[in-house]
Order: sequence, then structure tokens, then C-alpha cells
Amino acid sequence: MSDRIHSLSGYFHEYQKSVADPENFWARIADSFHWKKRWDKVLDWNFDGPDVKWFVNGKLNITENILERHLFIMGDKPAIIWEPNEPGDPNRILTYKELYEEVCRFSNVLVEKGVGKGDKVIIYMPMVPEAAIAMLACARIGAVHSVVFAGFSSSALADRIEDCKAKVVLTSDGNYRGKKKIAVKSVVDEALESTDLVETMIVFQRTGQEVNMKAGRDFWWHEAIEGQSTSHVAEEMDSEDELFILYTSGSTGKPKGVVHTCGGYMVYSKFTFENVFQYTPGDVYWCTADVGWITGHSYIVYGPLLTGATTIMFEGVPTYPNPGRFWEIVDKYKVNQFYTAPTAIRALQVHGTEPIAPYKLDSLKVLGSVGEPINEEAWHWYHTHIGKTKCPIVDTWWQTETGGIMVSPLAGITPTKPAFATLPLPGVQLAIMDPDGKELKGNSVEGNLCIKFPWPGMIRTTYGDHERCKQTYFSAYKGMYFTGDGVKRDHDGYYRILGRVDDVINVSGHRMGTAEVENAINEHPLVVESAVVGYPHKVKGQGIYAYVICDMSNRTEANLTNEIKASVTNIIGPIAKPDKIQIVPGLPKTRSGKIMRRILRKVAEGSMDNLGDTSTLLDPDVVDKIIAGRKE
Ligand code: PRX
Repeated sequence: MSDRIHSLSGYFHEYQKSVADPENFWARIADSFHWKKRWDKVLDWNFDGPDVKWFVNGKLNITENILERHLFIMGDKPAIIWEPNEPGDPNRILTYKELYEEVCRFSNVLVEKGVGKGDKVIIYMPMVPEAAIAMLACARIGAVHSVVFAGFSSSALADRIEDCKAKVVLTSDGNYRGKKKIAVKSVVDEALESTDLVETMIVFQRTGQEVNMKAGRDFWWHEAIEGQSTSHVAEEMDSEDELFILYTSGSTGKPKGVVHTCGGYMVYSKFTFENVFQYTPGDVYWCTADVGWITGHSYIVYGPLLTGATTIMFEGVPTYPNPGRFWEIVDKYKVNQFYTAPTAIRALQVHGTEPIAPYKLDSLKVLGSVGEPINEEAWHWYHTHIGKTKCPIVDTWWQTETGGIMVSPLAGITPTKPAFATLPLPGVQLAIMDPDGKELKGNSVEGNLCIKFPWPGMIRTTYGDHERCKQTYFSAYKGMYFTGDGVKRDHDGYYRILGRVDDVINVSGHRMGTAEVENAINEHPLVVESAVVGYPHKVKGQGIYAYVICDMSNRTEANLTNEIKASVTNIIGPIAKPDKIQIVPGLPKTRSGKIMRRILRKVAEGSMDNLGDTSTLLDPDVVDKIIAGRKE
């Protein structure tokens, strides 16, 4: 059953209902799912705990709403179309029936390995259908998956294993991405040297490269599923049982495990998918994200599959073997909805329109953008050259913590404006706050973006540390969830996201804490202190600029810079590698020892004549020295 809104007046009507009577609004949406037992109460909440429960005492299994639900009515319909890295290689198409069978087989494997309800399973896999099968099999048996992006280093992986106390890791031998063949299992092996929690590793064979298999711990995926039954009875889950943990970066400390639960996430991911993309039966939908991020969770796997959609998984990169690869795939599968990140658009824009010329792109109906603010130039390029001015662009604002899209046009319904995420989805009650905690009402205002009422897909806790959840999201503004983003509401009441107002930077749509990068830099033995800021980057949106104080004896600057980059790659992964490193004699600190990042940001972005008040600095001369050594 579809809960799609069909018109702008329909949107305003539904929005109004969702605010006036949220419980009835969401109960109606939730009623179109299969529950093993209906809930007793729609919502129980307070933002002080925070303590939020949706569909209280409802019992369900999310995979029944993906698999059993579609098995009989559309068993032969493609659920997942997998396109490999290499254009000439065979693709794979899994129908809903095949997906059902594969998920059941793998569920049986997990059960046989002693995995049960509540156990934590790390999935460190490339973009292959087995990654989605693994997620669904966990959900089916009640295990809690934590997908770790397969570009993270062994030490980042080990941290996550330790934090969630995972006893199983699902991985692959290797991975193909563009020209590269990347080792995957060996990264897990290295991670497991520093933790003994993991009892079982199951390895999907993708590249056939040589790997070490530890007897009793490591098993091949293809051998494990052999002879397993293709049916499995789904575990009964409480609506508020954990579905998954996904680690994300914040202003301080190590990445935290954002916890999402079964019932609310199910309802929210499907509702938002159907409405934002205006998915209609028979459409082919493609989101280019990786399953290691929330976009991959909600809009490659859960949202589309709950809707009975055909979702494409692409193993490769936009520029291999040439910058026409995305468009070749769009034509090949007649993609109707295409969802990507501004960084990918900008990376392709650099190559001009020639790579697009051979392709028709006439199947496209909707274009989507996610992960970072989309600049107007990229918006127009996307609209003109990819959408041929016919396709609405849905600029979707949301976060790992929100579980699903929060502010976005409904495709073809909400009039769009370049670089504006436009209006909140039904059920999303936004507030713009000034620094003193006062809500800025009316139009033409700018401030910090908060949310003042719960929505079903919201974060429940940060794994193992509820206080951190409270401090990070529910303390800045009383009774509100604080997003960490700045926002403007214009004269039409449209929302434009301005970017993070905390110490989080967004590099190629990947979220990174400056403190996390600094900690990795500081691991280098010659580094005394460092400060990391973001600066505008043509393709990545933001680049990483690191100011580092170090002991330069026995090293040239070039040597040291390379060593620091290598160290960050080792500790976090290549995505956190600084773009620019400036060795500095000191950092601009206030008399109380606080680094004035504002100054460092200005220097990094090149606006030195506008540094503001520097009179409170301990040593104002250090600023001139920093400016003199600035990296272009
Ligand atoms: O700053 C916002 C930015 O990405 C952050 C969330 O990052 P993450 O949890 O990794 O999730 C990314 C995918 C949902 C937000 O706090 N962001 C996300 N979408 C947009 C955006 N900024 C501007 N416009 C967007 N459409």
C-alpha cells in the first residue's frame, strides 16, 4: 500500500495533520506495514532523557516487510540490480524471491554460527549484493548490524568492533574500485590483532585473491551457505529493539555509534523514500552511495526494498573507466530516479559535457542530492545536463542521526529553488534558534537548526553511552534536538542549509570530526600539537587544512608532511588525509589556552584581511607567521 502524497495541497494538508495530531498521522502510515502485534501506544517521549519510543510494544520483523510482503505479489521482480566495477563483466539481478532465499540461507548460517538476538555483527564489505543480504539476515535473526565503510583503516575498524563488542565480522577477500584491486580481509585480520572479541568471520569471495583463513574462526561465504535451507522464520522483534548501529563523527572524541530501532526506522525510511522520490511501481531507482553510510542503509537497502522497488547497487566509481560511467548505467537500466552527492556532480562537471553526449538519459524522472550543501553552479549543471531541465532535483537534508530525509522537496510537487532543501517533510517540526536559545520565528531568519518534536526515524541513543547522546544532541537547546547545522529560512519560508556550525567538516560528503583528525596527526611522534579546519574545496566541498607544530630535527618539511598524511591514512583511512599541511611555529591561542579556530579558518580560506579581533590572543605575532607560511 502506498502512502504517497500527490500534490502540493496534499503536502500542506498532510503536514498540517502531522503537526496537529502526530500520533494519528504516524499510526495511519504504520498501519500499512505487517506487524506481528500492533502497538499499544504510538509514541512515548521526552527530550530530557532523551527517551523516545515509537509504536510502543509493537512486534515486527522489518525483513518480513521486505521479503514475505513482496514474495507472492512480485516474487519475479528485480529487487537488487548489481552493476560491477568493470563495464564488461556480468551483472547480477536478484528478484524478490531470490533475495528472500538468499537472506534466509544466510540467516540460517548466522544462527548455525551461534549468532542470536541482540548480538552485534560488523559488516565490512564492498558494494556487492551480499552486503545487503548480510544486513537483512542480521535484521531477520534479530542481530544488530554495524556496517563499517570498507575504506576505513584497520585501527578505525578495531575501535568500532571494541565499542560495540562485536563477535562476528562479515567481509570479503578483496574489492574492485576503479583501476584498483583492494585488499579487504587483510584489513580485518590486522584489526583483529588488537581485539579478541571476534569469534567468527565469514568471507565473501569477490576477487579470488590470496587470503589467510584462520581455522575455526574464518569461513567462506559460499561454503557456509551450501546446503542451507532457503526458508527461515523471522525473529519477533520489539519495535524499540535495536536494528543497527552506525558510527559517525562528531565535534569531540571518537566516532559514536548512532542507534536506530526496528519499528520507527522501518516506517520512516519507507515513507520518506516513497514520497521524496515519488517512486511508482515499475520504476528503477539508483542511489550511488556506499552501504557503509546512512544513505546506503536508508536509500539503497531499507527504504527502496520496503517499498518493493528495484534498487541498483554499483560497485565502481563515477570516473572509471571514463567519466561517462554513471550515464552509461542510467541508460543501461533505464534509471528513473538517480540520487547522488554534490561532490560526485562536481567531480564530473570538471570533465565537461562530452562524456554525457553519447547517452540519452531520457528515462530519468527525478534527480536527488545528499550529504552536503549543493552549490548553485553544480545544481544548474545537474539540472541542465543530466536532467535536461525536465527533472526536479530533490536536495535532501538529513543526517545519520535522523535515519531518513527530513527537509526536501517532494519530487515534481514542491517547487524547487537551487541550493534550497525547501520544506520539512510531514512530521518534521523544525525550529531555528539564535545563540541565546530563542526561537526565531517568521521568515527571513538565520540561525541554528533544531527539531522540536520526535519523528519515527530518529536516533535513540549513542551506543554504550546515553549521556553522550544527551550532551551532543539534547543539551544545547532545552527540549530540542540540535542538528549541528546552520540554516536560513528565506522570505518564502524555504530552508537553505548553510553547513555545520560545530567542529565537524564535510569532505566529499563524508563527515569528519576535526578533533578526530587532530588526534590521528598527533600520533606522529614528532608532532607537538595540531589544529584542523575545513576550507572551501572546488570538488570536495570542503578540504582538510592542518596546522601542525612539530619537532623538525632530522626531517624536511616534505618528509614530515608525507609521514603525517600516511599516519592519518593508517589511523582513520584515506578519506581523512589532510589536503594541506602547514608546519607552524605556534597556534593562535587565547590567554586561557583555547585555540581560535575562527582565525585558522579564515587563513585557510584565504580571507586574511577579515580576521576580526585578535587582541585577546596570547601571542598576536603568531598570526602573521601563519599567514606568511599559508599553503595555497
Ligand atoms: O551538515 C549536514 C550535511 O551532512 C551532515 C550529516 O552527515 P551524515 O550524518 O554523514 O549524513 C549524510 C547523509 C544524510 C548534516 O549535518 N548534509 C546532509 N545533507 C545535506 C547536508 N547539507 C546541506 N544540504 C544537504 N542536502
